[in-house]
Amino acid sequence: MTTYIELKGIRKTYHPARKVSVEALRSVDLEIKKGEMIAITGVSGSGKSTLLHILGFLEHYSEGSMFFETAISHKLSATEMAKMRNQKIGFIMQDFALIPYRSAYENIELPLIFAKVPRKDRRNRIRVLSEKLGIKDLLRRKVNQMSGGQKQRVAIARALINDPELILADEPTGALDRKTKHDVMALIKSIHEEGKTIVIVTHDPEVAELADRQLHIDDGTIEYGVCKL
Ligand SMILES: Nc1ncnc2c1ncn2[C@@H]1O[C@H](COP(=O)(O)OP(=O)(O)O)[C@@H](O)[C@H]1O
Ligand SMILES: [Mg+2]
Repeated sequence: MTTYIELKGIRKTYHPARKVSVEALRSVDLEIKKGEMIAITGVSGSGKSTLLHILGFLEHYSEGSMFFETAISHKLSATEMAKMRNQKIGFIMQDFALIPYRSAYENIELPLIFAKVPRKDRRNRIRVLSEKLGIKDLLRRKVNQMSGGQKQRVAIARALINDPELILADEPTGALDRKTKHDVMALIKSIHEEGKTIVIVTHDPEVAELADRQLHIDDGTIEYGVCKL
């Protein structure tokens, strides 16, 4: 497998106003192969979300170097960051991050509108994907009228609609009951089998087991990796 993403000596320091600065990541080295699925574990505050945010162009890193097929400057503009996110990355968040008073359809459609996909193509793509994810009957329903599992499926659809190369999932099963968790796990597994690269943050050993490799973060440092390959 070829190297897809490489982080070398990545540091991230937050400088909150009127507070002491926080070193969220300290010299992280990480190589991610195309098609690989990596699980990241670690206690609360250890830097898991920060790492996902840097991988997903939501935040700049402070020091080090990052390659995403090519070198990525830590000085990308907000527009360049948004473009990378829209073209390459699908996010699945624990709290779903959907617009509650809009329909599933409208939520899933947003990344397509941002990518300037014509209306007819948007409709076709949403129809095909929603059939695959079993949410066809939910498309017209408002998100605030859905169960946790239904919301998570809609959030997964929104993450996948642009056919991203990389899926970043932050505690995607944390808010779900057992049965729904297993459904979502099966879905993530099938996405992985289709060849997508996945980085998933989880506290759940059962979910981490799905991955090819497990990394543990402690206080902003990657501790060890268990590799199945
Ligand atoms: N925007 C921010 N401003 C200041 N500190 C932050 C910010 N985001 C995260 N942190 C701090 O960075 C550290 C790592 O946070 P985070 O990556 O969210 O950890 P995790 O996801 O593992 O719980 C924590 O000490 C957290 O308080
Ligand atoms: Mg977090």
